[in-house]
Amino acid sequence: MNKLFRKLRYISIISIVLFLLSTYAKGQMPVYLDESKTIHERIEDALARMTLEEKIAICHAQSKFSTPGCPRLGIPEIWMSDGPHGVRMEFMWDSWSHADWTNDSCTVYPALSCLAATFNPALSNKYGNAIGEEARYRKKDILLGPGVNIYRTPLNGRNFEYFGEDPLLTSKMVVPYIQGLQQNGVAACMKHFALNNQEKGRDSINVLASDRALYEIYLPAFKAGVEEGKVWAVMGSYNKFRGQYCSHNELLVNKILKGEWNFDGVLVTDWGSAHNTEEAARNGLDIEMGSWTNGLTWGLSSAYDKYYMAKPFLKKIRNGELPVSLLDEKVRRILLLNFRTNMNRNRPYGLKLTPEHTAIALKVAEEGIVLLKNEKNFFPVEKGRYQKIAVIGENAVKKLTQGGGSSELKPQEEISPLQGMIDKYGKDHVVFSLGYASGEPNYSNELPSKYNADSLIIAAVETAKNADVVFFFGGLNKNFNQDCEGDDRINMDLPFGQNMLINKLLEVNQNLGIVVISGNAVSMPWINKVNGLIQSWYLGSQAGKATANIISGDANPSGKLPFSIPKKLEDNGANSFGPAVYPGKGPDVNYSEDILVGYRWFDTKKIEPLFPFGYGLSYTTFKYGKASSEKSVYKQNETLKMTFTLSNTGKMDGSETVQLYTTQKNPTLLRPAKELKGFTKILLKAGETQLVEMDLKVSDMAFYNDKIGAWTLEPDDYIISIASSSRSIKSSNTIKIVR
Ligand code: BGC
Repeated sequence: MNKLFRKLRYISIISIVLFLLSTYAKGQMPVYLDESKTIHERIEDALARMTLEEKIAICHAQSKFSTPGCPRLGIPEIWMSDGPHGVRMEFMWDSWSHADWTNDSCTVYPALSCLAATFNPALSNKYGNAIGEEARYRKKDILLGPGVNIYRTPLNGRNFEYFGEDPLLTSKMVVPYIQGLQQNGVAACMKHFALNNQEKGRDSINVLASDRALYEIYLPAFKAGVEEGKVWAVMGSYNKFRGQYCSHNELLVNKILKGEWNFDGVLVTDWGSAHNTEEAARNGLDIEMGSWTNGLTWGLSSAYDKYYMAKPFLKKIRNGELPVSLLDEKVRRILLLNFRTNMNRNRPYGLKLTPEHTAIALKVAEEGIVLLKNEKNFFPVEKGRYQKIAVIGENAVKKLTQGGGSSELKPQEEISPLQGMIDKYGKDHVVFSLGYASGEPNYSNELPSKYNADSLIIAAVETAKNADVVFFFGGLNKNFNQDCEGDDRINMDLPFGQNMLINKLLEVNQNLGIVVISGNAVSMPWINKVNGLIQSWYLGSQAGKATANIISGDANPSGKLPFSIPKKLEDNGANSFGPAVYPGKGPDVNYSEDILVGYRWFDTKKIEPLFPFGYGLSYTTFKYGKASSEKSVYKQNETLKMTFTLSNTGKMDGSETVQLYTTQKNPTLLRPAKELKGFTKILLKAGETQLVEMDLKVSDMAFYNDKIGAWTLEPDDYIISIASSSRSIKSSNTIKIVR
């Protein structure tokens, strides 16, 4: 009994001690770690505890892809990774050498040009979520993407990383991507803010564009990402705008991003895009990243201390040139990022390389491939139709997940088009010939090819001669001066003698189809000689499987072009004026085509493109009924509904992307001949008819009137068109807008 009593007394003493300890601990728990407090209180508390040096430290890099956090307070480092279509491999702490980890491979999703071609926002959300899961699993806090710069010229080396030429398409696709990604507790970092529409001279080029072009063309996707997507990070671009570097540009950052749009996240530099401490401090830059001191040079030890946002910033605060309030404002934003990501205990743990990820990569690839030409039933090529199938071209085997710059990836699996074709048709039916060869990619040049070009041509012609059908897989390949960061393409032609090779192949076998793999429009001098043509993309891990599924008809193509393909380069707006307008003369590039970018240019100037924006065929056929709106007169605050029937009149299930364009009849300022204002992708079974309704907010037809600096909707007649591409109007309706 006595023993039991002693035991009980012992237990109760321990309990009291534990209780006291826990109460003491609770009392001591700093507010910034106390989850019962508001984020605002937690941020203010953490800020108050940080020394000046600690605050400065979190505003700049400590390694290639991380910032230091505040170790004394247990505030975690922030880890970042490229890029828009996969989580990049790991790097050495302080060099651009791969770290050669064995656990850093990823699912490579199709590049964003392909995602754009799906015209499928719901799929973009799945894509964003999948990449977010992988980023989270790989312990990343910021994914350096998506890129939303507008396709201004087919020469831009990075168009493959973006969503094409139209601001509405880009906006509609990027918002769900960001939402999907960030639900994993990983920040999206929308880039490159702003007007980074060329790689040539990107580090210094000064963009001159009107307010109208800014608001109507180049900023809408960023705005949507901030206001609707609630993006947590934005990356400033390398170039200048109106004389000031974009990463610390008073107008772009302070006035528009953080002012007009109320962006509450962090503005991160591109790697080495800060150039001035005073401007960086005052004009809204929050985190400076880069390589060594300025992103472009090498070899300084303690380089990170020399960043504009490091010791020079500290010095200016200490000597009173800059107020500490500027620094505090940045630290608050960075701490908010911490709370949203690595200090959010409820964020999921992430997933990597799951079957669902593979399925999403495949689905996006299949939905994004665009069928451009299909005469004499060239496609689909069902199994058994031909005995001997020739696959020709280096792009059928080249690893297109590599090269291109910061979007390079280490795929866990990469099915090449050749492998896809073999898997589909059987190895006894597929013969391969390289045809042409490029050198290995390097960051700022291309190593010479080890093959003899003439021998490759002879072998390919021989292969084509003896085949029942030929598939030529060509295009660009992310080597320098192709689709690659750091410089633009030199012209719009296919490289490595592909055009000549195609002609030689056609001389011996006319049953030839072409698959162009690129992120940009290429010139097609052979277009009238081929019956089958597919625009494909950097499709990632499932490239070959998706391509073979489309070629064979196991998947029905439904992709639409996210950019216009001009007949020749000079037909494109930015390329029609001369060097001052692209790539720039002296320090400036002048966006003289103004708001007439992409189809806005072709349509307004009445120039026939080779293939228009929004164009893409299917293996089935669609019939559009007459579209009508409920009434003919609308007030500015109303929403209009267009209603029409869409029928699948062919023999295969298929999806059609219906596009809604508007035209103002008598504008006081120039307006494009038409502008995309909505789209919807409809899946119909063979023979099925559906009633389609498309809503349009009347106010969305406004234009940016730079004479008064405001969006304006003029009372006028407007044509509302339902179309299957920007050049194929199926039905239009004229309505009147009144005040
Ligand atoms: C690119 C960015 C990229 C960064 C980090 C820069 O060169 O422009 O898009 O996120 O490098 O790799």
